[in-house]
Amino acid sequence: MERSDIEIEGLGYVADGVDAAVERPRVVAAELTEDDLALDRSLRPKRLGDYLGQTKVKESLAILIEAARARGDVVDHILFSGPPGLGKTTLATVVANELGASIRTTSGPAIERTGDLAAILTNLEEGDVLFIDEIHRLNRMVEEVLYPALEDFALDIVVGKGPAARSIRLDLPHFTLVGATTRTGLLTGPLRDRFGISFRLAYYTPEELASIVRRSASILGIDIAEDGALEIARRSRGTPRLANRLLKRVRDWAQVRGDGRIDEDVAAQALSFFEVDALGLDAVDNRILELLAVQFGGRPVGLTTLASALSEDPDSLEDVYEPFLMQQGLMVRTPKGRQATPRAYEHLGMQAPSA
Ligand SMILES: Nc1ncnc2c1ncn2[C@@H]1O[C@H](COP(=O)(O)OP(=O)(O)OP(=O)(O)O)[C@@H](O)[C@H]1O
Ligand SMILES: [Mg+2]
Repeated sequence: MERSDIEIEGLGYVADGVDAAVERPRVVAAELTEDDLALDRSLRPKRLGDYLGQTKVKESLAILIEAARARGDVVDHILFSGPPGLGKTTLATVVANELGASIRTTSGPAIERTGDLAAILTNLEEGDVLFIDEIHRLNRMVEEVLYPALEDFALDIVVGKGPAARSIRLDLPHFTLVGATTRTGLLTGPLRDRFGISFRLAYYTPEELASIVRRSASILGIDIAEDGALEIARRSRGTPRLANRLLKRVRDWAQVRGDGRIDEDVAAQALSFFEVDALGLDAVDNRILELLAVQFGGRPVGLTTLASALSEDPDSLEDVYEPFLMQQGLMVRTPKGRQATPRAYEHLGMQAPSA
């Protein structure tokens, strides 16, 4: 661990001693800075044993990996899906590490032409893991080249032009594709069918997140009590990436306002300061609920209308915010649009309109 990885940022705001009037360094789920991504990398578990929670997924992967190793074969193609920050990329690297394989990483939007994919595939070595992030964003032509590669480890290429054109088939090394997506719904049927196994990652429980917070705290050399870790965990929207970001923010706060140690009380105060409330909702989550309940008066609202009222991009609304609000029973998606639930009104301290 490099010392520079744990520099304290955002302290300027806090150290000024100005609380209310000045704009606060908000922590918002959908905004990721370079520092957040660097934090991701430094805290990313490398082996299955360090990957906490998602017990079922881990057990299945362990069996898959062991069986393939015993047969001397490659593991079936694997798809990971679920909201951002739940550990899809991490699992892809964990699978490669457990297999002792090299991992080649790319993403759906980065593979623009079929030739780009052909170049990637022909450069693979036997047993490699090919990780394609945001795999739902592959274009159709590229997808069609991928099918025979996944099924038969073969690449069909056309040589020559016009009547002289003919198709030849190149053999590819055996590899394992690991795909990740935040939206299984956007994956085409044929592509989905070519994965041997598919895992949907669920939000973590507060207890699981508390163990992730404790692991991160020990890596970063942060002094934290059990109840402090649990308080951060409860406010992390079921998401490890957020738990780690909040831990870092709380550490900053504790150094300036306290004696550096994080307990329940310190965590709660710090997180309120960063506008993360007791349910873990951030400023944007709360703004969504307010819009639905107040500005739109409880009527169903379409995605694009809601996104433009929020000045947020509809994709991050759908990927990041809605899944958690729905999981918490604060919002529902009806055929007519999004609506606040009675629990949302309660959370906002308002009376729900009578039906
Ligand atoms: N099960 C876990 N145990 C410990 N830490 C985890 C776990 N899952 C995720 N993390 C932490 O959360 C960070 C974010 O995870 P990751 O980048 O794998 O999410 P993701 O699902 O790929 O998100 P995105 O959809 O935005 O790409 C990791 O760098 C790691 O530090
Ligand atoms: Mg990822």
